[in-house]
Amino acid sequence: MSDFNNEVIAITGATGGIGRATAELIVQCGGRVVVSDVDASKVSALADKLGENAVGLAVDVTNLADNQAMVDLAEQTFGQLNGVFLNAGIEGQVAPFEQQTDEHWAKVFAVNFHGVRFGIQAALPAIERSGGGSVVMTSSVAGLRGAGGLCPYVASKHALIGLMKSLAIEFGPRGIRVNTLNPGPVDNRMMRSIEEQLNPGHGNEVQQAFTQRIPLGRYVTNEECARTAAFLLSDASSGVSGHTYLVDGGYCAG
Ligand SMILES: NC(=O)c1ccc[n+]([C@@H]2O[C@H](COP(=O)([O-])OP(=O)(O)OC[C@H]3O[C@@H](n4cnc5c(N)ncnc54)[C@H](O)[C@@H]3O)[C@@H](O)[C@H]2O)c1
Repeated sequence: MSDFNNEVIAITGATGGIGRATAELIVQCGGRVVVSDVDASKVSALADKLGENAVGLAVDVTNLADNQAMVDLAEQTFGQLNGVFLNAGIEGQVAPFEQQTDEHWAKVFAVNFHGVRFGIQAALPAIERSGGGSVVMTSSVAGLRGAGGLCPYVASKHALIGLMKSLAIEFGPRGIRVNTLNPGPVDNRMMRSIEEQLNPGHGNEVQQAFTQRIPLGRYVTNEECARTAAFLLSDASSGVSGHTYLVDGGYCAG
């Protein structure tokens, strides 16, 4: 298991499935975390549960100032920031391309792409001050392949991979590693929403169809994603930069 040696990681989307599991794991592994998400009461409940090695604040990632406040809180509370897990994301509307409005596109890109970009912009000076570190963005298998009905989501997750690869080249000489976590279908809220939107009232049938295409025969779990995120955020992956890390039960192997 990854060892964090008191390192400080800021996490967005931290009260969701993957974010919460990752925050819990990092604290268990000797790290300290700044947990952030949109709902202040959920964030403070999570920070309280995690204990003295956690602090939380409400952050809307679409806003640079909120991302900056998260970074400032890390330095004010713990004196350093070693990494960021830019994980907040939304699935958006499931609809054919022609029915995806400008508003749908803008909302998905504001959170999934620009939210990550703002997080990096805010965190970069602090990570440099701490002597280098790790940036992990949550992309998806939808960053590597298409999915009908999910054009904005898929395009935003592909865009993150281009950003990650370019930043790995730019930031490498400064000791900052950049990678993406690419989950396949995860057994959590977001997949329940996508399943239900794809076939209202029959989400369980969509789940069965997805599952049949996964070699392990099941969705992955939040905790399985968290273990790979923690690996990428910790020094256990000190030689790894510029890569996509799939946690997909073999979904993309075919
Ligand atoms: N669930 C899956 O099957 C799956 C698969 C591949 C990738 N992902 C990605 O994993 C990441 C985490 O999602 P999850 O599966 O834990 O789902 P989730 O919905 O439980 O978590 C997403 C979190 O992001 C937060 N969020 C949304 N908009 C925000 C904003 N403007 N500012 C700050 N936070 C915001 C939500 O409040 C939520 O807590 C997302 O980027 C998602 O796209 C999920």
